[in-house]
Amino acid sequence: MIAIITTRVQCLDNGLARLPPMGFNTWNQFNCFINETIVKKTVDSMVELGLRDLGYKYVVIDDCWQKDQRDPVTKRLVPDPIRFPNGMLALSRYCQSKGMSLGIYSDGGNMTCKRYPGSMGYYELDAQTFAEWEIDFLKFDFCYTTVWEEIHASIYYTRMSKALNMTGRPILFSACIWGHQQPWLWAPKIANTWRTTEDITPFYGRVMENLDNNKVLAEYAGPGAWNDPDMLEVGVSKPDQPGLTVQESRSHFALWSIMAAPLILGNDLTEVSKIPSWVLDIIRNKDVISVNQDPLAVQGVMVAETVIGVNRSSSLCYSVRIPEACTRTEIYVKPLKNQGFAAVLFNRGGLNQDDFHFKPEKMTLDWSKHLKVDPTKVYMVKDLWGQKELGKYQGTFTPDTLIQPHDCFMISLTPL
Ligand code: GAL
Repeated sequence: MIAIITTRVQCLDNGLARLPPMGFNTWNQFNCFINETIVKKTVDSMVELGLRDLGYKYVVIDDCWQKDQRDPVTKRLVPDPIRFPNGMLALSRYCQSKGMSLGIYSDGGNMTCKRYPGSMGYYELDAQTFAEWEIDFLKFDFCYTTVWEEIHASIYYTRMSKALNMTGRPILFSACIWGHQQPWLWAPKIANTWRTTEDITPFYGRVMENLDNNKVLAEYAGPGAWNDPDMLEVGVSKPDQPGLTVQESRSHFALWSIMAAPLILGNDLTEVSKIPSWVLDIIRNKDVISVNQDPLAVQGVMVAETVIGVNRSSSLCYSVRIPEACTRTEIYVKPLKNQGFAAVLFNRGGLNQDDFHFKPEKMTLDWSKHLKVDPTKVYMVKDLWGQKELGKYQGTFTPDTLIQPHDCFMISLTPL
């Protein structure tokens, strides 16, 4: 019992990420096609669109910012002079002048995943370099390590955590260990966030896999230490990948918010006029963001699921294709500081975007079953996507409309 209590409070004590971090990262949309202009334009747009003021504070440069060799004399990492001609300190200062913070990426192994120089053998020097560049966020990957190193990943992440602390600059430490070696068991003490999953992609099935891996880990999250099911794919689209639908994006954002996951945007923000309004409606929804940032600082949990006929060999659902025979719904709940709750009623449906086996569902939130509170309690219910108060409810709440497959209904319940 004592051990359980102490793991919860023994967090990396850098004072950062008391609530899940919010920001933007270059990887999901731009991969290696990054440069200073993209970063600056992103910062400008985030200010113009009000994203900064909603809490999206960090702009993180992912892999491929480095020159392919360290400086032969100083052994420091060097930004690619073509992509980042003014260097990282200038870029940090640019972010700061706009009220934002710059983040950067490195790797605990010999090379980054895209084969640029890794930090192995240079943890202290790299931490020092990042601090001198006034970096505020480090995403630390783990490609190009040996099997032994991979098994002992905690040693390497601890070493980098200490190196960051030694610089005296509070740098948010984001451990990108893909859920390997059960990071939730050791990373809360040394990192602010740790990846619980493999890489997300803008495909519904992949988002669902990340959800499943992350949703069972709520007990490990808390102020300063968060499970990270990877960055957001809302609005990410590429010629060969159409991306998530509006409904899927809404569910993705709602679920990440209720799981108190870091909200790190991945979509192209460089041209404000080219961002679809439905994307802005999702990522700028204040109420949904407040659920993620609620000061009680807990990760919400799945409290109910109904799975009928989803097994592909189930003839009624998949072969005979009777939609009535297929159901896959999930209910998530997060307690809030005001003694209320947030809830997501999620009609998960099948895996493919065009999966016609599943039907719109009627879903009900039940106070005693799902919130574990007295059913006579009265709450003011607000529809967070519809942005309207629906009235006072007692005992149960059922939305008026059916919930479409891959879509969700998200509400807050405020005690009266
Ligand atoms: C992966 C990581 C991605 C991205 C990529 C860069 O390991 O999970 O989020 O950072 O490396 O190469």
